[in-house]
Amino acid sequence: MKKVVLAYSGGLDTSCAIKWLQDKGYEVIAVIADVGQGENFEAVKERALKTGAGRVHVLNLQKEFVTDYVFPAIKANAIYENKYLLATALSRPIIAKHQVKIAHQEKATAVAHGCTGKGNDQVRFETTIRLLDPKLEHIAPVRVWEFKTREEEIDYAKKHNIPVNVTKKSPYSIDKNLYGRSIECGVLEDPWAEPPEEIYDMTVSPEKAPNKPPYLELDFENGLPVAIDGAAYLPVELIHKLNEIGGANAVGRVDTIENRLVGIKSREIYENPAAMILYIAHQEIESLVLDRETLHYKQLISPKYAEMIYYGLWETPLKHQLDAYINKTQENVTGTVRL
Ligand code: ARG
Repeated sequence: MKKVVLAYSGGLDTSCAIKWLQDKGYEVIAVIADVGQGENFEAVKERALKTGAGRVHVLNLQKEFVTDYVFPAIKANAIYENKYLLATALSRPIIAKHQVKIAHQEKATAVAHGCTGKGNDQVRFETTIRLLDPKLEHIAPVRVWEFKTREEEIDYAKKHNIPVNVTKKSPYSIDKNLYGRSIECGVLEDPWAEPPEEIYDMTVSPEKAPNKPPYLELDFENGLPVAIDGAAYLPVELIHKLNEIGGANAVGRVDTIENRLVGIKSREIYENPAAMILYIAHQEIESLVLDRETLHYKQLISPKYAEMIYYGLWETPLKHQLDAYINKTQENVTGTVRL
């Protein structure tokens, strides 16, 4: 039997995809990537097995996500269209990389994801995987399967005893990881509509934030955050802590109209407290320690670097070359920022 490695989230789409891929003659290996989305991964694994996955790999990628994906973005001051700090975009190349690794381990010939044909994520998965192993076959079940509506998909799930979460489906499409939360669809598609308070999960509204501003001292070493108020933090814990502090103080909400890679304009809401704090703090320390010409040149590179993350070009030669340049600029970015 041919094997396919599926990036599995536990949602309806990827659950139906397991069964659908089996019907196409594949043994399905599910990969569950923990990038800090805070799921019950044991339950997600159970669901994959119950739905028919031949094997399930649960990977805790949180630390690698922060050190190898988030940290380079911080050093680059990467922000897409001046608004988006790229939490979702950064998580795709790491998931894709591990899919390829598992595909090699399992001697699989194909990979699959649960993305639709409307968004950036399909491109990010497929581009990264093609760059890492051009021989793997790509399958995007949601893009090609026969279901025309969500109801038809749910019927299919019920017919095949695929556990469907019976709770009323939220009208929003949400992607979450350690570095931020992306919310789209529903009423948000009307750019005139103010985002309802119910969509937020990591941040309080400014009205609910304390009136007294808290102070925060962040230590950087070679461009990377290492301590908060003098106490050393490991990378994952540091992001958690800054999410907590920022979220409680209404820091990190973003409301934007974004140009997707596929040519669609899209209303997006983001909440990313830690990312916002780090983006600001890192630029502040750079303004003090970088020489004028380096600072100006780096400011030209930042939007390009952000665009490459957004477009799924993480594993390209140019992006790796830019990393070498950016790392060189960080040699003296060491010191404390007070916010
Ligand atoms: N527009 C953002 C991006 O392209 C967020 C995508 C969020 N994905 C989702 N399935 N809701 O990175």
